[in-house]
Amino acid sequence: MKIKKAVFPVAGLGTRFIPATKAMAKEMLPVVDKPIIQYAVEEAFEAGIEQIIFVTGRGKKALEDHFDRSFEIEHTLQHKGKDDLLKQIQELVPKTGTIIYTRQNQPLGLGHAIWCARDIVGDEPFAVLLADDLIQTDTPVLSQMVKKFDRLRASMAAVMEVEKDQTDKYGILDATHVEDDIVRIDDMIEKPDPDEAPSNLAIIGRYILTPKIFDFLGKGKKGAGGEIQLTDAMRTLLKDQPIFGYKFKGKRFDCGDKAGFQMANLAFALERPDMRDKLIKFIKELQKDF
Ligand code: UTP
Repeated sequence: MKIKKAVFPVAGLGTRFIPATKAMAKEMLPVVDKPIIQYAVEEAFEAGIEQIIFVTGRGKKALEDHFDRSFEIEHTLQHKGKDDLLKQIQELVPKTGTIIYTRQNQPLGLGHAIWCARDIVGDEPFAVLLADDLIQTDTPVLSQMVKKFDRLRASMAAVMEVEKDQTDKYGILDATHVEDDIVRIDDMIEKPDPDEAPSNLAIIGRYILTPKIFDFLGKGKKGAGGEIQLTDAMRTLLKDQPIFGYKFKGKRFDCGDKAGFQMANLAFALERPDMRDKLIKFIKELQKDF
């Protein structure tokens, strides 16, 4: 039961980034010099995923073009002898046939977006990656999760502790400790007010799900914010099958949020030897004014 398919819901409106996202998918915004979706796609391939399923809405053209060959750019780089750049843009294009696009014709929510991929996923466990959640780590989070899945053979979500006053931004767990980095989910609730949250353990955008989830997503029940929520379907799935929470290793940035996006840019740029010294000098200068 190897995880071979990964669903990337990229059909949200990205309203928090208007005007940047008026005509372009939020997932195409770059952190340093790479669109955030590319980080997630690379993470999936590193975890052994063989098929990428994009659920798109708008901004589809830029996304499709990004993962396709550009003969014009390749020709120019070749002509100018820029071999490193040429290699880079050739390597980012996955093998023909490994990316499938489907469309969510109305942004009815994350749960609905995943449901749109049901016939492509079929009857096998699959991964879901939300590119907004960018994680800085030595071992990509999906690889960490696939390893856990090999043993646990059940649905799971990546989880982390959040500030108590931030629970209304996440799916929050009521869970029982199983081992070091694993909890068993007893219940979950989407975006609870801090005083109603059962804990401060939040789900972030990496999941491995069994295909049974489609039965519940298909019911089309609206939840928090009037959207068809994945959390609600997982909550129903809990009655039939166990779901685990995995406390991943790494630092997560919320790139769907403007401040989180800037933090990600800074953190990832500081990892680059060609930028690090310049940035540190700049930060020190800025600090004088704080
Ligand atoms: P968000 O909750 O961040 O919503 O979606 P959003 O529309 O992208 O952004 P804001 O809040 O308006 O700024 C989480 C993930 O679910 C996808 C988004 O593309 C993102 O990857 N999504 C959300 C869909 O694919 N379809 C939807 O209907 C809603």
